Amino acid sequence: MVKKFYITTPIYYPNGIPHIGTAYTTIAADIISRWNKLLGNEVVFLTGTDENAKKVYQVALDSKENPKEFVDRLSKEFAKQWKKLNLDYTRFIRTTDQDHVEVVQEILKQTNEKGDIYKGEYEGYYCQGCEAYYTEKDLQNENCPIHKKKVEKLKQPSYFFKLSKYQDKLLRFYKDNPDFILPKNRAKEIINRVKEGLKDLSISRKDYGWGIKLPFDKEHVCYVWYDALTNYLTGIGYLKDKKNFNKFWPADVHLVGKDILWFHSVIWPAMLMSIGLQIPKTVFAHGWWTVENEKISKSGKLIEIDELINIAGVDSARYFLFRETPFGDDGDFSKQALIDRHNNELANKLGNLILRTTTLAEKYDLEETENKLLKKLNLKKIQNNFTNFELDKVLNEIFSFIDICNEYIQNKKPWETHDKKVLYELIDSIKAITILLSPFIPETSEKIAKQLSINLNFKEIKKPFNIKKIKKSEILFKKI
Ligand code: MSP
Repeated sequence: MVKKFYITTPIYYPNGIPHIGTAYTTIAADIISRWNKLLGNEVVFLTGTDENAKKVYQVALDSKENPKEFVDRLSKEFAKQWKKLNLDYTRFIRTTDQDHVEVVQEILKQTNEKGDIYKGEYEGYYCQGCEAYYTEKDLQNENCPIHKKKVEKLKQPSYFFKLSKYQDKLLRFYKDNPDFILPKNRAKEIINRVKEGLKDLSISRKDYGWGIKLPFDKEHVCYVWYDALTNYLTGIGYLKDKKNFNKFWPADVHLVGKDILWFHSVIWPAMLMSIGLQIPKTVFAHGWWTVENEKISKSGKLIEIDELINIAGVDSARYFLFRETPFGDDGDFSKQALIDRHNNELANKLGNLILRTTTLAEKYDLEETENKLLKKLNLKKIQNNFTNFELDKVLNEIFSFIDICNEYIQNKKPWETHDKKVLYELIDSIKAITILLSPFIPETSEKIAKQLSINLNFKEIKKPFNIKKIKKSEILFKKI
């Protein structure tokens, strides 16, 4: 049965260019999206840029560039870098897109009509880095606890969203939907904070003019998070294509970094409850990467996409990020660790298996037989791991099987025996490996698939390999 699958990444602030931190979520979404396509599911994979933020506006002003021209330029840069990483998304959404502006205004209108918005005065603090509000007790030495920088002190008229009204409803929702916040260990903290009480959320400002205007008061622009979260509705045609929207909503998973889990697991569901839309099935929060044990920052360590790719190629970079650290945990990036995995795992284990097997198969040919070797591949486990977003475990399972295949060739010595059946089993197993690895290393998988005439489709794993003539493979991963 064909299922629909809707996956999103956060939309990134285009106030700088992409780096491994932002690439991480986007590659993860690409891997999960490609896996669903392998299963034959109908997939929407949405990513894009969050352009109405004050900090984006500020960088444009600081660089004396027209803000709209600035975001046009930067958002193009994001799309360009994502292509280099082989990210196959459905739509690249920009919050300055006209259809998005209309959706935000429509949602604000509906929420207002519901009686969930009121005018008041906001008095408190705002961190531009976080694009978030703080109270005095949240601050550390008068600074933002995250950015350790001075916060803005605000006292101004503002519209508020009645977030507090949804406290009980949210708590009930978390209880009834234990898979809403994943990994589960992150849910507890959120739920405890909600239990402590929710304050209404200031959703507008009138002291600067960059952003989407409130439909009921054009002097105010909408708070950037209220606007940004709504992109998940625009992206599948909330106003423009109702049929598509009804087919894909609710989202199957919003992938986010742990820093923005609160917005996605508290504010976003409350916004949806207010307008009577279903809540997404899962918000999955991943950890943070450091680079050689230092925080990624514009002024310090920052691995840009070209630098990442230049170390060992696109596929090795994609592979490394999900092999090195369990998806959900924090990780530390180092060039040497990437090179080691490229050499030891992709070149030695995978590359050699394919090169040795295809060289022998070209020489001695294949004879079809039952592939007993393939029984050692635990497909059920791999499927479950994918469903639970355990991408590291998927790779562990595939690489254990690659080890088994390498031992098999070593023990059976087909270079001495010329055993066509053993070679058949190995080639048929390589077919399975290629299909399963294709979400992670699409470029290399396509090369192997082309050479062995394999269809990259999950069902093909169980269909016997039926090509008789094999050609020796090229070197897939050159050692560094
Ligand atoms: N614009 C908001 C998201 C709005 S979604 C409706 C935003 N943008 S961001 O550009 O600051 O960050 C986007 C994502 O990148 C976050 O999920 C964040 O966790 C992730 N990362 C940024 N640096 C990172 C690391 N060093 N490591 C892993 N992920 C990191 O927040």
